[in-house]
Amino acid sequence: MGSEMLQGKCIILGVTGGIAAYKAAELLRLLVKGGAEVHVVMTRSAQEFITSLTLQTLSGNPVHTELFNLIQEHEIGHISLADRADLILVAPATANVIGKVANGIADDLLTTTIMATRARVLFAPAMNSNMWGNPIYRDNHAKLKSLGYHFIEPLYGDLACGWQGQGKLPDPQQIFKSATALLGSNDLAGKTVLVTAGPTREELDPVRFLSNYSSGKMGYAVACAARNRGARVILVSGPVNLPVPKGVEAIQVVSAQEMYRAVMEQAEQADLIIKAAAVADFRPLVCGDQKVKKGDSDTMMVELQRNPDILAELGQHKGSRILIGFAAETQELLKHAREKLESKNLDMIVANDVTQEGAGFDGDTNIVRFLMADGNVQELPQMTKQEVAEVLLDKAVVLLDR
Ligand code: CTP
Repeated sequence: MGSEMLQGKCIILGVTGGIAAYKAAELLRLLVKGGAEVHVVMTRSAQEFITSLTLQTLSGNPVHTELFNLIQEHEIGHISLADRADLILVAPATANVIGKVANGIADDLLTTTIMATRARVLFAPAMNSNMWGNPIYRDNHAKLKSLGYHFIEPLYGDLACGWQGQGKLPDPQQIFKSATALLGSNDLAGKTVLVTAGPTREELDPVRFLSNYSSGKMGYAVACAARNRGARVILVSGPVNLPVPKGVEAIQVVSAQEMYRAVMEQAEQADLIIKAAAVADFRPLVCGDQKVKKGDSDTMMVELQRNPDILAELGQHKGSRILIGFAAETQELLKHAREKLESKNLDMIVANDVTQEGAGFDGDTNIVRFLMADGNVQELPQMTKQEVAEVLLDKAVVLLDR
């Protein structure tokens, strides 16, 4: 690790009350050595395991413990700390602190700071393996993850409570590496990235629509990853069940025509456009004001009209922009993806066979291949959508630099 890696970064190190709290001292030393300005916030029970004096000495800054002291001092300390931080790293994070944040409880300085921040939050949980497996904990963990909080998984091993299982805090070196990875790459700074995500809905009548199974997860993962790398991100999203990621400019649309208009309005300012949306190719030719009645007939015809192909149109007026599309296929993956890459004038297409297990619309993972305009093809193993997003952006950065 280069010693300058965290220069200029402000990190809040949250320490909660678990036996692994002693490892926070070593982690803090690494963060400071990496050049970061670190402010430690300890919970009351953390102070039973490690003294604030140790952490104060290592950080060179006062250690914060009490919410109300700060308020009495007329400096709303938790807000200013929360504003200044680039990262809040909670290590070790108990089941208790994760449960509180997941449920909106902010009853001490650490939980208040986490709730008030717009910075990224990274939890390094450590606990008894039964607590780790407890469905209540699993729910809280999953909820925070889906909201964009980051986690470092604990390791298997001998736990302080005498059990063997998953729950052990990883080495400080490992946590340090995850924190720097989260903060480190700023390779999209100064770039504007336009991302589309989710399905579109094509109205048939006031109560019905045609759509597809897209969940938006892939596009949202790309938007978050681009934001984390320093880009200004504009996200044009169809109707999905995902929260708007922090720090991303979101434009909500419903139909393909609305998505078309929103994308065309924003495209001019974009350096990189990534079209992960599953746009409906057709819409009902007529959409009545009233609910369609079933009548007496056993069959029914719905006439469909072609929607604009947003990506193809972007390809025709591409300028110096980098254009990346997705191809969701159920057969002849490479052939169809290559045709789309060429006909839409793209720099790269991300192809996935949506019939494959572990790939496709609704899951958290994907299995993709990257096809480049120069003929190169790269096949990736099954990965989380977040990981796919990172590899995709690595490629986009190379294309932007050309
Ligand atoms: N796309 C688009 N506008 C459309 C249809 C598709 O911008 N009206 C974009 C998608 O966002 C995706 C790429 O084109 O990035 C490929 O989409 P896909 O649905 O896989 O293919 P289509 O071009 O629609 O072709 P087909 O449905 O025949 O497979």
